[in-house]
Amino acid sequence: MKILFFDAKSYDIEAFDKAVKNYKGIELDYVESDLSIKTASLVDGHDAVCGFVSSDFSAPVIEKLASKGIKLILLRCAGFNNVDMAAAKAAKISVFRVPGYSPEAVAEHAMALALAVNRRIHKAYVKVRENDFALSGLQGKNLRGKVAGIIGTGKIGATMAKICAGFGMRVIAYDKFPNKNLTFIEYMSLHDVLEQADLISIHCPLTDENYHMINKKTIATMKDGVILVNTSRGELVDTDDLIQGIRDFKFHGVGLDVYEEERNNVFENRSTDIMETSIVSRLLSFPNVIVTSHQAFFTEEALAAISTTTLDNASAFAAGKPLENNQVK
Ligand code: NAI
Repeated sequence: MKILFFDAKSYDIEAFDKAVKNYKGIELDYVESDLSIKTASLVDGHDAVCGFVSSDFSAPVIEKLASKGIKLILLRCAGFNNVDMAAAKAAKISVFRVPGYSPEAVAEHAMALALAVNRRIHKAYVKVRENDFALSGLQGKNLRGKVAGIIGTGKIGATMAKICAGFGMRVIAYDKFPNKNLTFIEYMSLHDVLEQADLISIHCPLTDENYHMINKKTIATMKDGVILVNTSRGELVDTDDLIQGIRDFKFHGVGLDVYEEERNNVFENRSTDIMETSIVSRLLSFPNVIVTSHQAFFTEEALAAISTTTLDNASAFAAGKPLENNQVK
């Protein structure tokens, strides 16, 4: 099986070239460009494509891939909201993903954002470099004894919940399907979680029903001085409403690893570009906001797990024994 990797970065190539040595009959090619209607023509001579969070798997792209003989889409990520599944089904292309490659990687980054924004580490770092040792503007809050509100308690949310419990926080959560095994979590409605939490961390997938779940109305139900962290998907939060909420002093801090319209930015050095949107600069105009660029997954352990699972998906598919749990249907 020949797989063409789109949006391949040096760290992807390193991890996959190392992992593929353990798989017979799989050949990997890499291109730097991400998948789009234009770059889809590069797949000639390949059986499968491997894409990431920003790859364009819209219906026209999928149709083009199918016309070139692609049978398999391998996502080297957990989320699959960028894939038009109806189009993939119609084109008889199977889609596989890597669910839960390292929940710790993402949950630990979520807590890192919460801690950094709470204690204004991003500001302190710059101030001390400028020999400004004054503490004004840097005051934080203790987490111990506060309430952590987790939205979505799957693999990552459950890990974040455990981290929060380790910090001595009371953990409340909303999930469409509460996990009874997580006995330390108090499940309640989304409204109640938003109303009671001092730290809100979003860990549910983006679906049609929860697009902009954090909006003007839901922000209004939150406590004043809340910390909001989103490491899940940008479109879960209405950015304009978030910015208004920040201007209204609703938030002590906001930590975002994902944001709306991040697609053109993710993993690119755009320092000399004229940006087409002002979302990042508007968000960063606030002293209590930290934005990272979809890096929550980015640990050594996660990359090793991503490459192994992606290649397991490819070889099981080739052997006619698809790994059911990893298939997107
Ligand atoms: P998971 O599938 O293990 O858990 C998702 C949980 O959300 C499930 O318990 C599910 O019942 C719940 N859920 C589904 N719809 C919901 C809704 N409307 N409201 C509340 N809960 C809902 O997924 P996992 O592995 O924990 O990943 C969560 C999300 O994290 C992914 O969908 C992805 O968007 C994001 N992610 C971000 C990464 C990053 O680098 N920033 C890396 C990996 C994942």
